[in-house]
Amino acid sequence: MRRLDQLLSNLGYCSRREARAWVDDGRVLVNGEPAKDSGQKVNPADVLIDGEPPDHPDGLLLLLHKPLGLVCSHDEREGPNVYSLLPPRWRARNPVVTSIGRLDKDTSGLLLLTDQSPLVHRLTSPKHKVPKIYRATLNRDLPAGLTELFAAGTLVLAGETEPCAPTTLTVLGPREAELTLTEGKYHQVRRMFASQGCEVVTLHRTCFGDLTLDSLASGTWRELPLGYFG
Ligand code: URA
Repeated sequence: MRRLDQLLSNLGYCSRREARAWVDDGRVLVNGEPAKDSGQKVNPADVLIDGEPPDHPDGLLLLLHKPLGLVCSHDEREGPNVYSLLPPRWRARNPVVTSIGRLDKDTSGLLLLTDQSPLVHRLTSPKHKVPKIYRATLNRDLPAGLTELFAAGTLVLAGETEPCAPTTLTVLGPREAELTLTEGKYHQVRRMFASQGCEVVTLHRTCFGDLTLDSLASGTWRELPLGYFG
């Protein structure tokens, strides 16, 4: 059971203060009857708001096809962000919807979003070693021996003390490759190639664990069951 005003504000409908007016205006029904008090305890399954059941009362887990040019930070000073793609009500939720790990502004592809913070911690923890696949195009031909170097688990990036975990590099063409990472150091793919004199020109994440984008259009998302990761 949850307080009605808390339910409305946590799901992004209105502030707790405004919830009183929503109740007074008869916009909220509990078991088919107009709610009496914005402080009453309710089971979300018994509630209708403007005639509709509450919007994802148990949480959200989304698979987004991130376009280029958007950041994963909530800080507006860093520029337009991926959350601007979501409906306004989802952007007003508390806990906030946030990305599970980050893709940088100039990287496109598969990004998970959720309001479930334990899931964020679990899936971004290096302990869990979720494989993520990136497709990169480079400004010059791939140097010889890169597959072996990346697989060795000995590459230490500038400013780091720990080497990168072993990664699988699959060469797709002279200037195109797929890299499978199980960790997420800052700008890791770009920095790994840069350490070998290659600049990443385009970067796209195709897989996160067993999830792929399939035919999901850039800038759109699909919902995943909250229990998807168990
Ligand atoms: N590595 C990068 O360099 N950028 C990303 O967005 C993700 C991994």
